Amino acid sequence: MLIVNTVKALQEALQPYRSANKKIGLVPTMGNLHQGHLQLVKTAKQHADVIVVTLFVNPTQFGANEDLDSYPRTFQVDCDKLEALSTDILFAPTTDEMYPRGGDNTSHVHVPNITNVLCGASRPGHFDGVTTIVSKLFNITRADVAVFGEKDYQQLAVIRRMVEDLNIPISIIGEPIVREADGLAMSSRNGYLSKEQRVLAPQLHEVLRDIHQSISKGDDDFKTLQNTATTELSKLGFKPDYLHIYHRDNLRPAKKGDKELVIVAAAYLGSTRLIDNLHVHCT
Ligand code: PAJ
Repeated sequence: MLIVNTVKALQEALQPYRSANKKIGLVPTMGNLHQGHLQLVKTAKQHADVIVVTLFVNPTQFGANEDLDSYPRTFQVDCDKLEALSTDILFAPTTDEMYPRGGDNTSHVHVPNITNVLCGASRPGHFDGVTTIVSKLFNITRADVAVFGEKDYQQLAVIRRMVEDLNIPISIIGEPIVREADGLAMSSRNGYLSKEQRVLAPQLHEVLRDIHQSISKGDDDFKTLQNTATTELSKLGFKPDYLHIYHRDNLRPAKKGDKELVIVAAAYLGSTRLIDNLHVHCT
């Protein structure tokens, strides 16, 4: 695996592939890789000839009181995991390389409306940071396809919207959530959980499954389902941030008769913020 730290070196490394008409696949990450990330790489390999994984803890998507400084950085272990998958190129730039003028002085990409709800409401400015860094990575690599996880459901929707709005010539592939055996969605932030919190954490998924089951049985009183589940999370020891039943495509509250739904939730265990979601297909 070739490891590059500068935009210039990455573009030089990709040039021969581009000249040979090879398809370039991109997997953006912030590192501390787990099976969820690795699944994205495997999927990218099915759709492209050369795979670029990026590892950059992007400061512009972290709020002032968030975990930028403590975000887990495990570079060597990450390299070993990517090497084992025969990843072609790892791009691991410094902050100066990505934001030579500083984050605040850099042009940014803003996707309106769907960034105002859910995680966007709780984390102001977060999605501007995400769309800005992701567009930079799209432009730098000129990748043909990029793979993102459905774990960050809103992020995936925002990126798809950006690509559509700005006519970015790239295909976006969404990868289903990879979970631990007990149902907890894999996340770099799971490492923050204490032993007791880790035992409790899969209950977030359980609560979403309960709603799924109720909807599948025909319950379409979405407001009550949401309220009951939110109360249940609090009783279990979570501090719910949000829990909604939304239409899958436009991220707006589900209405009776909607067929493709997504239950989306974010909840704190101590200071660790967990997110999860579950699709519901109503027949
Ligand atoms: P990060 O949290 O490192 O996640 C990188 C990619 O892995 C994202 O597309 C995310 O949705 C996916 N992912 C994480 N956990 C997953 C799981 N359990 N199953 C499936 N996919 C999973 O998301 C980011 O980084 C950043 O916002 C980034 C897009 C890199 C921009 O900085």
